[in-house]
Amino acid sequence: MNRRNIPARALALAFALPALALGAAPGPDAQVARGMYIVSTSACNDCHTPWVMGPKGPEPDMTRALSGHPEDANLPPAPTLSGPWIMTASATNTAWAGPWGTSFTANLTPDPETGLGKWTVKNFKDTIRSGRHMGRGRPILPPMPIAVYRNMTDADLEAVFAYLRSLPPIRNRVPEPLPPPAKMAVK
Ligand code: HEC
Repeated sequence: MNRRNIPARALALAFALPALALGAAPGPDAQVARGMYIVSTSACNDCHTPWVMGPKGPEPDMTRALSGHPEDANLPPAPTLSGPWIMTASATNTAWAGPWGTSFTANLTPDPETGLGKWTVKNFKDTIRSGRHMGRGRPILPPMPIAVYRNMTDADLEAVFAYLRSLPPIRNRVPEPLPPPAKMAVK
């Protein structure tokens, strides 16, 4: 072998390897890691994980990560607001009331009865893209930032779903949304 060719070959290999890695479909672990990254930078825990009071103030309770509005919260009816203040949130940051009524964040863990356990990746993508439950049901209410997340690529939405599937399932039945008091309803 011509010794002078070795650095050139090593260089060619160094460029070829990342190209191979980019061309290949991500393995399941890489996809879950990508989904975890997106979830942790896209605020999902801010709203879908109940907040508790920690030593430095309110913080998401990660022992109940992404399990949605707690079924045992038993909130009284939301206050009726007027003037420029139109929205209130519960202390858990999982329930909001505004002109659309009262909405409660969904359980995103893979529990089959109360979470996304029975969802396919298509159900998830259809929901986010259309802003309707499973792509055909009722509209998803504020403050779920559908208008932001619908801009994610297919690969990113698939990664988010793969990560959600990897979470421990938590049984927590989130209540259905409540209609607004007649006074606040948007006409
Ligand atoms: C600002 C608060 C907020 C943030 C941030 C947020 N959500 Fe939501 N999300 C909600 C609320 C509230 C609902 C319930 C709306 C309803 O009942 O119509 C919801 C509903 C959903 C649903 C629909 C469930 C169903 O049964 O149809 C999915 C899926 C979802 N969120 C996923 C996510 C993911 C993934 C992220 C992060 C990328 C995220 N959400 C971030 C507030 C939020």
